Amino acid sequence: MSVNAMASESSDVLVEIRDLVIGIQRTRKDRLLIVESANFDIRRAEILGLVGESGSGKTMVCRSLIGTLKRRSASIFAGTIKFDGMDLAKLEERQWRSVRGSRIGYVPQSALTGANPVMTVGKQLGEAIRRNRKRKEKDVRRRVMELLELVHIRRPEVVYDQYPHQLSGGMRQRVMIAAAITQDPDIVVADEPTTGLDVTVQAEIMKLLKEIRSELKMSVILVSHDLALIDEVCDRLVVMHAGTCVEVGSVSAVARTPLHPYTIALNRSRIDISTPGAPLITIKGNPPAVGEWPAGCRFSDRCDFVQQDCTVGRNPVLVEVRPNHWSACLHAERLGGTSE
Ligand SMILES: Nc1ncnc2c1ncn2[C@@H]1O[C@H](COP(=O)(O)OP(=O)(O)OP(=O)(O)O)[C@@H](O)[C@H]1O
Ligand SMILES: [Mg+2]
Repeated sequence: MSVNAMASESSDVLVEIRDLVIGIQRTRKDRLLIVESANFDIRRAEILGLVGESGSGKTMVCRSLIGTLKRRSASIFAGTIKFDGMDLAKLEERQWRSVRGSRIGYVPQSALTGANPVMTVGKQLGEAIRRNRKRKEKDVRRRVMELLELVHIRRPEVVYDQYPHQLSGGMRQRVMIAAAITQDPDIVVADEPTTGLDVTVQAEIMKLLKEIRSELKMSVILVSHDLALIDEVCDRLVVMHAGTCVEVGSVSAVARTPLHPYTIALNRSRIDISTPGAPLITIKGNPPAVGEWPAGCRFSDRCDFVQQDCTVGRNPVLVEVRPNHWSACLHAERLGGTSE
């Protein structure tokens, strides 16, 4: 089955990303490609994890979903992002205003950069609520309180009048999640929402995202470096390496039978906290830099299973190797079952 047929018949699909190419137009003739073939679906009310090493293009993909690539001087060169009859890849800034925030919410990596430091929590959330329609002041306040309770902020009446710097990191991130869901969006994009928070707070934020998905039936796209965290919360996974999606499947299928050597390597390089003194295994080499992608598979020179045909031709595309389990490895069939 080709990637273009990837679950497109399913009514479960909320967003369909196909052959997405993102990059930077450096001069009239010179383009730097950053993401070359992003291909995956976001299903209704699922938590979809996006993993991969630093620089693999995860944030670029997130930005394409909220229409903020321009802020990084990047743009979409090709491909489609179908969402509710629209192609987000072709939306003008004017059209984004009725999608960003209202249909697709965003939780930033750092709640400190995301929040306005000179506005109280109540004011910020109130503004977000009023953004698309007029409401009576008392209704806005009631809705802010509801949201603060929904994200489990203790003493919401106190927090309402506080400034972001008066809150702990975890509380700030809860407020950012509340801000992302003010308009009852279909999807929340959370790009490493727990970076810099301690482990217990991370777990609480993840629990909150899960609750929101279940209670409000929203889809969540969750970017993380932390595979353990992803396993815990996500339904499906997209693994990115060097600007491409190399594996897509359910969390259980990807954990049980990873079908790409990069995923196998990622799994091996997890920190094993259950065995004190266990050696830290790293993936050999570095991911190829943007603009310096080799011929053939971009993981080939780091791969333990490399064959001659892996280093020539075009970068392999995703193929459905098992039902609903996709891999961009030419030799995926031979890997099936290699989880160690
Ligand atoms: N304006 C730019 N000019 C040149 N390269 C850029 C620019 N913006 C991003 N890049 C490069 O694009 C690549 C992908 O960036 P992106 O931020 O999407 O990675 P990421 O997977 O989110 O990484 P991280 O896990 O570190 O957040 C990186 O190698 C980055 O250096
Ligand atoms: Mg990033």
